[in-house]
Amino acid sequence: MSQSIHGMWSSRLIFIFAASGSAIGLGNIWRFPYIAGENGGGFFVLVYLACILLIGVPIMASEILLGRAGRKSPINTMQDLTQASGVTASWQAIGWVGAIAGFTILSYYGVVAGWVLFYLLEMSTGGLVNANAQSTQEIFTTLTANPWALVGWQTLFMVMATYIAALGVVKGLQTAVKYMMPALYILLVMLVVWAATESGHFQESLTFLFSFRVEAFSVDALLAAMGHAFFTLSIGMGAIMAYGAYLPKGVSIIGASVTIAMLDTIVALLSALIIFPIVFANGLEGTEGPSLMFLTLPIAFANMPGGQFFGTLFFLLVSFAAITSAISLLEPVTAWLVERLRTTRAVSAMIVGFMAWLLGLGSAFSFNIMSDVHFFPGMTFFNLVDFASDKILLPVGGVLIALFTGWALRQTIIEEELGFAGYTINIWQALIRYIAPVAVGIVFVMKLQTLFTG
Ligand code: PFF
Repeated sequence: MSQSIHGMWSSRLIFIFAASGSAIGLGNIWRFPYIAGENGGGFFVLVYLACILLIGVPIMASEILLGRAGRKSPINTMQDLTQASGVTASWQAIGWVGAIAGFTILSYYGVVAGWVLFYLLEMSTGGLVNANAQSTQEIFTTLTANPWALVGWQTLFMVMATYIAALGVVKGLQTAVKYMMPALYILLVMLVVWAATESGHFQESLTFLFSFRVEAFSVDALLAAMGHAFFTLSIGMGAIMAYGAYLPKGVSIIGASVTIAMLDTIVALLSALIIFPIVFANGLEGTEGPSLMFLTLPIAFANMPGGQFFGTLFFLLVSFAAITSAISLLEPVTAWLVERLRTTRAVSAMIVGFMAWLLGLGSAFSFNIMSDVHFFPGMTFFNLVDFASDKILLPVGGVLIALFTGWALRQTIIEEELGFAGYTINIWQALIRYIAPVAVGIVFVMKLQTLFTG
């Protein structure tokens, strides 16, 4: 099939914007710095980079390949490709695991993106001009303690993301990514220049992030780094597969995967190099957790000439980074509903958006009225969905995708998408057949072992 019924990206560049728009999001700017902080820096970052290269890029290429070969929503693509390859229908579970993972991620993603919208308003109206370590802490605590404020911001974000998804691939998604992605880069670079020249703690941050100490090894850091590699690249759940379905023939899949992963990694590292100098300069703790970005960035903007303007622009762009990711989380199930129910795109997007919003209430409330409800020791609903998605569902989904593409998919389909065997294709095949599944398996076994031995 050369076309998808949902629409097609108009060029390779647009696909790179869309897929990197999915990959670059809260995971890079909000999540990567705080989990790097929680896991002690150096060792975590090294494992993370290794995972991106050895597991992330090959699985991303597999997803794009499957998507383009099937040209439908991940659930139906998997159905068609298992049939075309003459293998057991159990592989279709990949589409379903992905749909569950997508809902789970989108539910709490909307809540955190809501915080970003709140900071955008505060920043633009001057509420953060005198921000210091103490006042940013107070602002964050007051916001998260208020369930209705959180739900209000979450709702606003989900409505915006759903609206873009409802407009469709070409009018909605493509237009959104075309303008926002380049702008985000420019702002990030400006902030890094500020951090490198003005913060006074840039060197310390570099050391924290890149000095590898063997004694920093921990199974938890290993699992966190691996899980985050899946999360940040948007792989393991079908988002990239859905986007691959709209990719014109003739674009190199492996080349695109490397480009997307590189862009994503650069943004994550730059974000950490902006946030850590502020942490060190203000006596904050890098181990702050999910609030880290919200406690640090306002301080940087308060100390910068034109800070209110740049701060507003920055939170605006983080909002857009979040939206370009959220629409990719909506896409697999939205496209499936269109195919399945034969409804319009708008109705499908609204159903998916509403369900994710509903589930998200649990995360919004786990910062206030449900903060004492723990599902495992010390684990709120927010912690639970976060843990389940990036540390379990995405790696499991990703490995299944790797195994399916590596062992079950008909060889002629691979040749049609990638061309005939060559050096890069052999490396890719070795990575998805052996390296990625074994690496993920080892990390899981090590984690299970720590659970039993304490
Ligand atoms: N990659 C996004 C981020 O880093 O913020 C999050 C994400 C989007 C994860 C889409 C998974 C996904 F399918």
